[in-house]
Amino acid sequence: MHIGNPLLLLSALALTEASPASISYKSLYPLERATVVANRKAGYQYSPSLIGEAAFFPTGLPGDAIKEQDLALWDIDRKLTEGDIAKDIGAMKAAIAAHSGTFKTLDDRMAPMPFEVDEHVVKKVTGTALDALKAPGSLFIIDHQRGSNLVYTPADTVTDRLLAKIIFNVNDMFHIQTFHLVAIHDVGEAVHQAALQTLSEEHPVMLLLQRFMFQAYSTREELCFNPDGHWDKNFLISEKGYLLNNMHDRGLVSGPHDPKHPFKSFPFLSDAFEIRDTFKAFSTGAVDSYYASDAVMVDDIELQNWFAEANKVAKVHDFPQCETGCHPCTKDVLVDVLTHFGCINRVAHHSLNGGDPVSSKAIRPFHFNGMYALVRIKKGVADLMPFLPNPAQSLAYIVSLTTLNRPLYEEQNRTLAHAFGDQETLARMHEQTRKEAGAFMTRVKALSAKIRAKSFNKNGLSEGVPYIWRAVNPGTIPYFFAV
Ligand SMILES: *[C@@H]1O[C@H](CO)[C@@H](O)[C@H](O)[C@H]1NC(C)=O
Repeated sequence: MHIGNPLLLLSALALTEASPASISYKSLYPLERATVVANRKAGYQYSPSLIGEAAFFPTGLPGDAIKEQDLALWDIDRKLTEGDIAKDIGAMKAAIAAHSGTFKTLDDRMAPMPFEVDEHVVKKVTGTALDALKAPGSLFIIDHQRGSNLVYTPADTVTDRLLAKIIFNVNDMFHIQTFHLVAIHDVGEAVHQAALQTLSEEHPVMLLLQRFMFQAYSTREELCFNPDGHWDKNFLISEKGYLLNNMHDRGLVSGPHDPKHPFKSFPFLSDAFEIRDTFKAFSTGAVDSYYASDAVMVDDIELQNWFAEANKVAKVHDFPQCETGCHPCTKDVLVDVLTHFGCINRVAHHSLNGGDPVSSKAIRPFHFNGMYALVRIKKGVADLMPFLPNPAQSLAYIVSLTTLNRPLYEEQNRTLAHAFGDQETLARMHEQTRKEAGAFMTRVKALSAKIRAKSFNKNGLSEGVPYIWRAVNPGTIPYFFAV
């Protein structure tokens, strides 16, 4: 394993993982600690992202060492995962070869589609008619159109209508993937890079961020957005973020502090809210254990520098603006930041990415990353086959989504249940924080058991929906940003 210049890395991390975590005091800042932080600031630099206007990527010698180390760590998992994928893809290739070697219909498993959805079905599924859904604002419209004024309805030809659905889903997948990048990885990385420039390794906030950022810089640039990487191959032609604020902005809950919603059931919100609450309880306990009062926090020079750096240099959007004076960074603000960091990392990430796309999306002919032929801006399309991936392209697409799925994490204790479960991290925490970590594990394990026990009722529904929502099971999703 090549990890850059280890001497330089060590000097940048001079106060190593072995030190117990402690906050800093402006009024009593030891020269040794100040020097270590100043050296880090001189060493870590921000480099522009390959994607364009996205979060910076760490560079400078210690920054490059982190990237190399994360890639080397990911390589271990990657070899295991790719070995398994290769076996499955081999079997699929043989099956396709035995089946004439190509795709002849839109869905070679079942052609033609066995059912139409008519008004009676709308009534059965929703309990009412479409108009009755519109009146109280219960019908949600997702608008992916950019400039084109073509409107497709069931009155179009079957082929045009199906093409419209495919285009919609391609847009949806594109939106999901770019949203997951911008709202999750970019935020986490920018906040973390500001911390690399301002906090010492012994700061308790750094201790938590380092754990959450495990392997975080491994794949984004070099494997996904490099020329001919996953993005090029599969996406062809082609404080607002806090959980309840975000849901409220979308009109899905009553208020930013009120998770009441208008649906019969909302499985995502129930599970996500429980995880958010558990993180909030942990963050509150951890912050209380290090900061006896808001005044102690205002005196923590490293923490205050981190807040300023995140806003001014790392350009994190909507980060609390403590340095303005009218809004001092109180303990509540830090609790919210740490809670959100936990939520984007697990709840948001793993309901958009991780194991979810390969288990519930990627369905031929409906859901792809990109269109495989140029989309015309006229109706009257006769053949949809050119828009769909051929066998080789389908297999490449399946490989790309399957790589996001990490079944090994459960046996490796790399799941959310173990977020604060490793002995090294625990040993460096305050006694009180350790207790909170124990409570965290108990509570998320209970949620995991509840999610595993979900099943269909006799009407074929689970929590009121025709699928079992298990995407954020703390017993299977990782505690860190795993692609
Ligand atoms: C996972 O954690 C459990 C305790 O929760 C422990 O008994 C087990 O040895 C750990 N496994 C690995 C691979 O670290």
